[in-house]
Amino acid sequence: MKELHVGIVGATGMVGQEFIKILDQRHFPVASIHLFASDKSAGKSVTVRQQKLTVQETSEDSFKGLDLVFFSAGTDVSKHFAPFAARAGAVVVDNSAAFRMDPDTPLVVPEINPEDCEHHHGIIANPNCSTIQMVVVLYPLHKVNPIKRVIVDTYQSVSGTGLPAVEELKSTSRAVLDGKPAEPHVYPHQIAFNMLPEIDVFMENGYTKEEWKMVTETRKIMHAPDIAISATCVRVPSLIGHSEAVHVEFTRPMSPGEARRILTEAPGVKVQDEPTAHVYPMPWTAAGQDDTFVGRIREDASHPNGLAMWICADNVRKGAALNGLQIAEAMMERGWL
Ligand SMILES: NC(=O)c1ccc[n+]([C@@H]2O[C@H](COP(=O)([O-])OP(=O)(O)OC[C@H]3O[C@@H](n4cnc5c(N)ncnc54)[C@H](OP(=O)(O)O)[C@@H]3O)[C@@H](O)[C@H]2O)c1
Repeated sequence: MKELHVGIVGATGMVGQEFIKILDQRHFPVASIHLFASDKSAGKSVTVRQQKLTVQETSEDSFKGLDLVFFSAGTDVSKHFAPFAARAGAVVVDNSAAFRMDPDTPLVVPEINPEDCEHHHGIIANPNCSTIQMVVVLYPLHKVNPIKRVIVDTYQSVSGTGLPAVEELKSTSRAVLDGKPAEPHVYPHQIAFNMLPEIDVFMENGYTKEEWKMVTETRKIMHAPDIAISATCVRVPSLIGHSEAVHVEFTRPMSPGEARRILTEAPGVKVQDEPTAHVYPMPWTAAGQDDTFVGRIREDASHPNGLAMWICADNVRKGAALNGLQIAEAMMERGWL
C-alpha cells in the first residue's frame, strides 16, 4: 500500500495526541509525520512510533510535499491554514466547524456516506462529536424505516472542550473536595459537581451553536434534509465520553427487538442492552473504545411510531480522531488518496 506524508495541525492538543496514537494503532501507512501547533509549542519534542519528532509552528508554507493533513486546532486556524494545505496538494481532513456546512465540502462519517469524499475540493470535514455518535446509530434504522423527528439531549464530557478543560475539571474537583473555591477559567461556571446547559455560543433562536450543529450536520450526512431535530446539549463533569438520550419518531412503528437486530449488524455500533442485569452504555466504559454503544432501547410511550434509546461513545476517538482517520482509510481503499 502507498505510504503517505502526513501532517497533524494541533498535534499537542487532545485530538492531535489521539491522532498520533490511532495512526500507530491502525498501522496507517505513513512515509513521514509532521507535527504542527502554535508558536507556544514550537520546538517541543513528541514521541511518535518510537521516534522523537519536533513540533513546528504552523505557517502558510508548512504543507509542501504532504499528502494528507489532519487539522484539529480550532475553527480560526482551519479557516486560515487549511486552504494553504489544500492548495499545496494535500487532502485536508478538518475537525473544526470551519467548512462543515460549505456545500462544496463533504461532511463524512465513513459508516454512512464515504462516497461523498469523491467530490472533495481539497478539504473534507469531520462532523461534530455529538453528531457523529448519534448518526452512526440512527442511519441504519433510517434506511429501514425513514426517521421523521429526533429529540436529543446530550451529556458531554469536558474532553470535548480540549486539554485545558480536562485540567479544569480535575483541579476544581480537588478544590471542592478540599473545601476551597473552585474558580472557573475555561467554562463560565464551575464544572466540578455541576452541569452547564451551554456548549458553544447562544444563537438568536435560543439554541446554542452546538445544538444547531446536531440539526444541520445530521441532515447533511444522512442526505435527509427533512428530518425534524431538536437538541439540548449539556456539559457534564465526566472526563471522556459523550452520552445522549435520543427519542426517534419513524414513519412506521418499529419494535425495540427489530431495532436491536438492525443495530447488532450495523458497522461501528455495539448493542449493550440488558438493563435488568445493569448492562447499558456508559461513558466510562466507552472511553478508549472505537465503537459507538447503544442500549435502553424501548418504545417511546409518547408516540406509536417512536423509540427511545441511550447512546455513548468516546468523543475524542469516534467523535474526532478515529472518524478522521477512517475518512482517510475510506479514501485510500477507493484509490482517492
Ligand atoms: N476534543 C474533542 O472531543 C473534539 C471533538 C471533535 C472536534 N474537536 C475539534 O478539534 C479541535 C481541537 O480540539 P482539542 O480538543 O484537541 O483542543 P486542545 O486540546 O485545546 O488543543 C488545541 C490544539 O490547537 C493548537 N493551536 C492553538 N492555536 C493554534 C494556532 N494559532 N496555530 C496552530 N495551532 C494552534 C494547540 O497548540 P498549542 O499547544 O501550541 O497551543 C493544540 O495543539 C477544535 O476545533 C475542536 O472543536 C474536538
